[in-house]
Amino acid sequence: MTLRHPDPAAAGPHASDLHASGPRPPDPHPLDPLTAEEITAARRVLGEAGKVGTATRFPLVLLDEPDRRTAAAHRAGDPVTRRLRVTLLDAATGVTAEAVVDVTAGALLSYRELDAASEGQAAITFEEYGIVDEVVKADPGWRKAMAERGVTAPEALALAVCAPLSAGALAAETDGRPGRRLLRSLTWLRCTPDDSAWAHPVGGLAVDVDVVERRVVRITDTGPVPVPAECGRYEAEFTGPARTDLRPLEITQPEGPSFTLDGHRLSWQNWSFRVDFNAREGLVLHRIAYRDGDRERSVLHRASLAEMAVAYGEAEESRNWVAFLDAGEYSLGRSTNALRLGCDCLGEIRYLDAVLADDLGAPRTLPNAVCVHEEDAGLLWKHTDSFHGDAVESRRARRLVVSFIATVGNYDYGFYWYFHQDGSIGFEAKSTGIVQTAAVPPGAGSPHGTEVAPGLLAPYHQHLFCVRLDAAVDGPANTVEEVDVVPLPAGPGNPAGNAFTARTTPITAAGDGGRLADPALGRRWQITNPAARNRMGRPVAYTLVPQPGPVLLARPGSAVARRMAYGTKHLWVTRHRTDRRYPAGDHPNQHPGGAGLPSWAVGDESLENTELTLWHTFGPTHLPRPEEWPVMPVDHSGFTLRPTGFFDRNPALDLPRESGGGHCHGQGS
Ligand code: NI
Repeated sequence: MTLRHPDPAAAGPHASDLHASGPRPPDPHPLDPLTAEEITAARRVLGEAGKVGTATRFPLVLLDEPDRRTAAAHRAGDPVTRRLRVTLLDAATGVTAEAVVDVTAGALLSYRELDAASEGQAAITFEEYGIVDEVVKADPGWRKAMAERGVTAPEALALAVCAPLSAGALAAETDGRPGRRLLRSLTWLRCTPDDSAWAHPVGGLAVDVDVVERRVVRITDTGPVPVPAECGRYEAEFTGPARTDLRPLEITQPEGPSFTLDGHRLSWQNWSFRVDFNAREGLVLHRIAYRDGDRERSVLHRASLAEMAVAYGEAEESRNWVAFLDAGEYSLGRSTNALRLGCDCLGEIRYLDAVLADDLGAPRTLPNAVCVHEEDAGLLWKHTDSFHGDAVESRRARRLVVSFIATVGNYDYGFYWYFHQDGSIGFEAKSTGIVQTAAVPPGAGSPHGTEVAPGLLAPYHQHLFCVRLDAAVDGPANTVEEVDVVPLPAGPGNPAGNAFTARTTPITAAGDGGRLADPALGRRWQITNPAARNRMGRPVAYTLVPQPGPVLLARPGSAVARRMAYGTKHLWVTRHRTDRRYPAGDHPNQHPGGAGLPSWAVGDESLENTELTLWHTFGPTHLPRPEEWPVMPVDHSGFTLRPTGFFDRNPALDLPRESGGGHCHGQGS
C-alpha cells in the first residue's frame, strides 16, 4: 500500500457513501439507464412470443436509445417510451438473434436471426468462460500436451487456468465451418488456488473450443517451452515489509461536494449532463452542456468509450492470433468493478449503481459502478504583475471526475471523464493490472516482447481505445476542420523566415473522414458550428487535441487489420446515424471484418454543417518493462476537448480568489 486511505468502516461525514440509485426518480427521462423492471419486462415479452427456451442466453441487453431529436425534445413530464435491444444466443444451437422490445407497450417490435458467418457472433457470455475451462481440461489432447510439458498431477491440472479468448477470424480462416461459435484458449498454471496464474504461462499451446458442441476442435502445439517457475504474487503478504514513512493525506470537503445529482442529471460549475451506464460501453454521458450566462449551450450529444482493442505482435503460431475487442466481445460494462470507497476513489464520493442483465436475462445490480467526485487540479491561472508592485492574481482549479473501472482478464482499465472550470473536457484511460505473458527459454528473449522475469515474456501489444462523440457544439449542425501549424515559404510574405500560420482544412466528405494525427504539424481537429459566432464573428468551436501514438500495426489485409480497421486512423468523422453505434460493428465477435467505420467512411456524402459523430482512436503501443511486473503501475492515455472561440474570453474569470478552502494567503496586491 502506498497511500493511507480513509477507513470506510469509520466513515465520518467526509466518507459518506450515498447511492444516487435506488427507486426510479419520479420524472423518467428517455436516456435513463435500464431498470430491473425493464429488463424483466423485456425477457417476459420475449418469452410470451416463444423466443425464450431453456438454452436461451442473453449476452447483451441494452437500451434502444431514442434519436437525437426525440431526446432533445423531451421535457419533464412528457411520456417516455422505452425500447430495449436484446441479443439472444441459443446455447444449444449457437444461433444468435437480435430483438427490439417495447417494454412500455409490452410488445416485441422485431426479431431477427443473424447469419453468424457474415454478421458475427453475439458477445461472449460469462457461462462460456466456465465451458472453455471445463472442455479444455477434459480433453485428452490437451492432457497429452500438458504431459509432454511435465504436468501430469491431477491437482496441477485442476489448478490450470484455461483462458476464454475471443477467436478472431479463426472460423473463416482455418476451421472450414463458417458460423461455428468458437473460443480459443491459452493455458496458465497456478501453484495454489490464489496464485497469480500469469506468472506461469504454458508455451506453444493453443486450444480451439466449439462452445456449442462443447468440444475441442483443434490444438496448435509448437512444442514445449519450460514453464516459468518464479512466483508472481503481488499482495502485501508476498512483497516484504511495507513502507513506514507515509503520513496521512486527508481529502476533506466539510460542506460536501459542489456537484448535484438530480436523478441521473449531474450539474457542476456550469456543466450539466446525464450519466448513463450500459452493459457494453459502461459509462455513457448524454447531453453535455455548459451554462454560459443565461444560455444553456450544448457541446456533445453523447460520449462513450465505444470499443477498445488489444492487439498483440507475436509471430509464433500458437499466439499470432491474439487480439481482443474488449467492449464488443467481452462487454466492458458487464466486466465493471464494484468500486470501494477510499481505494479506487478518494474524497467526497457519490456512487451510482448499474442494473445489467445476466446471462439468463435477469436483472442484476452492480453496486458502485460509477464514481463521481471532485479533485483538486492544481493551478488554473495566475499572473504576477511586475509592473504593478508584483501584484499577484491566481486561481486554483478543481475538476469533476466521472469514472468506472473494468477488469477484462489480466488487464484492469479505469476510464475517467474530466470536466474543467475553463470549459475543457478531458478523457483518460488508465491501464493497469497484469501484462499478458508467454513462455520463452530463459535468457533467449524475443523480438516481439520483453523478458520481465526469467523465461517470462510480456509480448509487445497495442491498446487502441475508441471514444465515440456525437458532436453538438452550440447545436446539432457542425463541421470538423483539420488544423495544422505550418511554416510559410520564404518570400515577400515571410521576409525574415520566422513566419508560420495555422492551416485549416474542412473535412467535407465521408470518404475523407478517416484522419491521421501528425505531431510535427501539431495536428488537431476543431468541431465548429458555422451558424454560431463569437464576438469576433468567428464560428464557435471545440478542438479535439490528441495525444497520438502509433495506429494499428498489423499489416493491411491481415485478419487483425480487417477486424480492427477502426484502429488504422486516429480520427474518423461520420454522419451521425442512430444505427452507427460501434466502430468495429454491432457484433465484432468472430466477425470476418469490414464492419463499422470502414464501411461508413466511404463515398461523397457531405460532412459539412450537419449532425456528425467523431470517433477518436488513441492508446499506448505497449513495450512492457520489467518494472511492470508482477503488477503494472498505471499507464495513462487520453485526449482533451478545448473550447476554441466557444467563449468570448476566459470563462473562469469569475472564480473567487478563495476557492480552495482558505489555504491561500496574501492574495492580491
Ligand atoms: Ni498493455
